[in-house]
Amino acid sequence: MSNESLANLMTEERRFAPPAELAAAANVTADAYASAEEDRLGFWAEQARRLSWETEPTETLDWSNPPFAKWFADGTLNVAYNCVDRHVEAGNGDRVAIHFEGEPGDSRSLTYADLQREVSKAANALTELGVETGDRVAIYMPMIPETVIAMLACARIGAPHSVVFGGFSADALATRIQDADARVVITSDGGYRRGKPSGLKPAVDEALTRPGTENVRNVVVVRRTGQDTAWTEGRDLWWHDVVDRQPAEHTPQAFGAEHPLFILYTSGTTGKPKGILHTTGGYLTQASYTHHAVFDLKPESDVYWCTADVGWVTGHSYIVYGPLSNGATSVLYEGTPDTPHQGRWWEVVQKYGVTLLYTAPTAIRTCMKWGDDIPARFDLSSLRLLGSVGEPINPEAWIWYRQNIGGGNVPVVDTWWQTETGAIMISPLPGVTAAKPGSAQVPLPGISATVVDDEAKEVPDGGGGYLVLTEPWPSMLRTIWGDDQRFLDTYWSRFEGKYFAGDGAKKDADGDIWLLGRVDDVMLVSGHNISTTEVESALVAHPKVAEAAVVGASDPQTTQAICAFVILRGSAAEDEGLVEELRAHVGKQLGPIAKPKRILPVAELPKTRSGKIMRRLLRDVAENRELGDVTTLTDSSVMQLIQKKLPGAS
Ligand code: WT7
Repeated sequence: MSNESLANLMTEERRFAPPAELAAAANVTADAYASAEEDRLGFWAEQARRLSWETEPTETLDWSNPPFAKWFADGTLNVAYNCVDRHVEAGNGDRVAIHFEGEPGDSRSLTYADLQREVSKAANALTELGVETGDRVAIYMPMIPETVIAMLACARIGAPHSVVFGGFSADALATRIQDADARVVITSDGGYRRGKPSGLKPAVDEALTRPGTENVRNVVVVRRTGQDTAWTEGRDLWWHDVVDRQPAEHTPQAFGAEHPLFILYTSGTTGKPKGILHTTGGYLTQASYTHHAVFDLKPESDVYWCTADVGWVTGHSYIVYGPLSNGATSVLYEGTPDTPHQGRWWEVVQKYGVTLLYTAPTAIRTCMKWGDDIPARFDLSSLRLLGSVGEPINPEAWIWYRQNIGGGNVPVVDTWWQTETGAIMISPLPGVTAAKPGSAQVPLPGISATVVDDEAKEVPDGGGGYLVLTEPWPSMLRTIWGDDQRFLDTYWSRFEGKYFAGDGAKKDADGDIWLLGRVDDVMLVSGHNISTTEVESALVAHPKVAEAAVVGASDPQTTQAICAFVILRGSAAEDEGLVEELRAHVGKQLGPIAKPKRILPVAELPKTRSGKIMRRLLRDVAENRELGDVTTLTDSSVMQLIQKKLPGAS
């Protein structure tokens, strides 16, 4: 990627210093950077002491066989003990761990003491079903407390879990069961989605008819919706039959720090899903530290809410393992943001007095589209910090979030990381960093990240290229389940000795990092590399645009031509001059080279179930090709609507 083309594109100049009060009481101060700089491994050894170890580790990192890392290898611990029991032993058994809010409005709160009993019973039940240390358990569930209980029960007995997002099909579930060779599946009859019960068990039944799933001995079914459920005698068991009658005591056994904790599949753009393997001690150390540092969690007073699904890594690290290891009180919400009305999330914030909120840019842009008046109807004054994850956040969305959700005076932390990194890697520290809307800014203390060019050379400030991680980190993936070679090829072969994240990035004049989207999404226009993210952010900065997706379509003159799909804000009309106005606006913000050749107003954009825009499909449309695989789209009819908008479409 050429440096000069990216260097002058970003024009964001706004800065937001940490609120003085937060800075004065922040969990982590600027000293952390210095101490980690001085002794990186010593810094992580110190963070590992946040946890309760059965055997304290004496060795921090074993990097004798890179890139296969071992962290804290001679230490032993139990993850569930760290997330539950130790808080009860410390006298905090009465503290709420989970405020559950069901979509239909049912709610219940579980204290740490409740969680200890429930997790112990579930662990006893799994043991009774013959699940042994090392056996894989698939979890296919809605967002209910039993999902968290099931994950912790697996961790407690050392059975790695593989959580499969409840929105995935029977096919996707079957491939994941096969690949991990799961022995038990934990599911529910269904969950509530958009005001209706939506079945889950039927997909499990279907998945288990596929070859390669024969080793599944039992399906444990939580009753959530009460809908009719087909039953395979001898295989299927109700959770309440097998768990409720178990003893509420269970002695946790300590496992080695490198014992597998979970497998989580990430689909990526090509090929079969990759089973990302995370282990115990290093993962929990970094999940716990980052949750404490980035969200400034005060467990006695904060109410924390991460809106992700537990089926994604964000849910693993920042609904389950990070917050619970820190003794946090969290909200767990089952449903969609607009059921039964578009203010539902803000109603939940008001009801529980949420202080720390962690969500995704796609959700923020959707709320912007719905209008400022909706959050304005609720009391959001409890919020003291906002987080973002999943995609680059457009500066305009960042400002909107801070203003309309945060009341204009709270820090916004834009956190960059991946399923593979296990925990946050690049993010402002809320009490330290003067935040720049749209930039994840700086690697956290103890993390080494930079931007390199095609030749693996670190770019100077102002330069652009590829994001790489240059030192191992505690919560790094250990391999791809069953495929070490693919682990090496995917992440470690592009740049010798460095982890290749697959994201384009640039460094600004201060050395802060800006993420520019997946490298497959960078466009080449007349010899210039232009990031889809930057053009999208310029479009979203226009008052008439709510959302934008930009792709490079092959073009005989310019190699690629910029083609933009935009969703207009509520009141904006699709009139004659609009397209010219938007082109001129982008030209003014980024320079004439970045002006889209075509701009198409559309009603919806194609998104994956985790909310990422599928630019590959838009490229197919822009290049008049037949559409590629649409199976991971939330709603495949979106593509037909978009195709109809094209000039010349039938
Ligand atoms: C990819 C990883 C990490 C949890 C959710 C996604 C993109 C993630 C940011 C951010 C810019 C971001 C990257 C990354 N991404 N956070 N703050 N700024 N891009 O996990 O599904 O493994 O996706 O999400 O492209 O590589 P994932």
